[in-house]
Amino acid sequence: MNRLTIYAGEDGPIINRHIYGHFAEHLGRCIYEGIWVGEDSPIPNTRGIRNDVVEALRHLKIPNLRWPGGCFADDYHWRDGIGPREDRPRCVNTHWGKVVENNHFGTHEFMDLCDQLGCEPYICGNVGSGTVQEMRDWLEYMTFAGNSALANERRKNRQDAPWVITYWGVGNENWGCGGNMRAEFYADEYRRYATYCRHFNDGKLYRIASGPHDEDYHWTDVLMREAAAQMEGLSLHYYSLIQWENKKSATQFDESEWFTLLKKALYMNTIISQHSAIMDRHDPDKRIGLIIDEWGAWHAAEPGTNPAFLYQQNTLRDAILAGVTLHIFHNHCERVHMANIAQTVNVLQAMILTEGEKMILTPTYHVFEMFKGHQGATRLPILLQGQDYTFSGDAIPQLSASASRNHMGEILVTACNLNPHQPVELFCNLYGTKITDVTGRLLTAGAMNAFNTFESPDTVKPIPADGMILDGNNLTIMLPAMSVVAVTLT
Ligand code: AHR
Repeated sequence: MNRLTIYAGEDGPIINRHIYGHFAEHLGRCIYEGIWVGEDSPIPNTRGIRNDVVEALRHLKIPNLRWPGGCFADDYHWRDGIGPREDRPRCVNTHWGKVVENNHFGTHEFMDLCDQLGCEPYICGNVGSGTVQEMRDWLEYMTFAGNSALANERRKNRQDAPWVITYWGVGNENWGCGGNMRAEFYADEYRRYATYCRHFNDGKLYRIASGPHDEDYHWTDVLMREAAAQMEGLSLHYYSLIQWENKKSATQFDESEWFTLLKKALYMNTIISQHSAIMDRHDPDKRIGLIIDEWGAWHAAEPGTNPAFLYQQNTLRDAILAGVTLHIFHNHCERVHMANIAQTVNVLQAMILTEGEKMILTPTYHVFEMFKGHQGATRLPILLQGQDYTFSGDAIPQLSASASRNHMGEILVTACNLNPHQPVELFCNLYGTKITDVTGRLLTAGAMNAFNTFESPDTVKPIPADGMILDGNNLTIMLPAMSVVAVTLT
């Protein structure tokens, strides 16, 4: 018996909308082509930013966008990306294929993008190869309202009003591509940088320290011990992948790889629990957010593409991976204040793929769209009793689910069936509310590796969920094998 009990009359914590954040790096075709095509492009654009991509992302209600990296951030010098575009220096993107970066997409273009998307900027500053002064000056340039040289330079570059910046990363992966630092060294550096990272207007900066990856619990402990007083958030990176060396194909896989990848995704729960336990010791009130600003599936680059560009396809498996991960974030939302899937367009587990003027939405996009009602909603306590999905002597839960109530009293229930063979009849009991109506949408496909292409863009897309039965406050949801469902109850 698969049963979901929802205590709909009870109050839980708010699912921070920033958990549904995104990440766009100067990497491969994410920024250039995927977002920025330039004002003279035949691809319809607004001030150089492609309209189709903006429209699709607006539909997701994306709350924030992290930029300019990733590893790129610690080799980025903001002054290269301001002023007349034709005068901007051409630099080498050392991390991602040594391609030439023309800096046509810089601070003003990024802030314009956030404006067009209606989202908050999350900027990652350069610790690895930058200076405290460079970082501090960037903040003054962007946020000072008064009559200073830097604020006037911004005005000269046609931005009169200061921007509002809240989320600010102090370096990225400083244990690796951001300078190969030890935790102890970075903690001291962080304190120094963070001292000068301030909002020059009335706003308050939310400073995010570069955090650990995977099981590096030492990094978390040292940062929390030495620098908690100067930080509002601590980042964590965890990618789901089968193996680092010789990564596996995004589309050509058997059930063994299906199972293994989903098991890796579920491991996010352990990773968060362990880092949270360390943070709890230093910050029992959970003031400091755990910011999972890079997560998602990392597969081999598509054959025939530049391996340094990390362009990968996106299947139904990735959609389910996204669903279970978002549920894990909900479960930890007292500590997880923000998360950013990597990356928005054409890189890693993307929402959108582009080819010239063409654009397609990935299965992962559809999960973010189906789940968007959870943003800012109250998480409801649930009890999920389900069978295991077993494969080759190993087992993971077959089901993953979450429920929330929005400010209008609507309840959103989302569930994933991880088993590629067995459909599930999920019996839901709701307590503490009266349900009169139910509507639902379903994402599934005929094959584990189904994906959308430019020729066939709708192979994996949501359809109305059939077969739901509402009987008083009891609801039966039919979950086909390998599926994601989103049900709204009013
Ligand atoms: O998202 C791709 C890369 O993965 C990022 O640049 C880096 O932070 C991480 O290692």
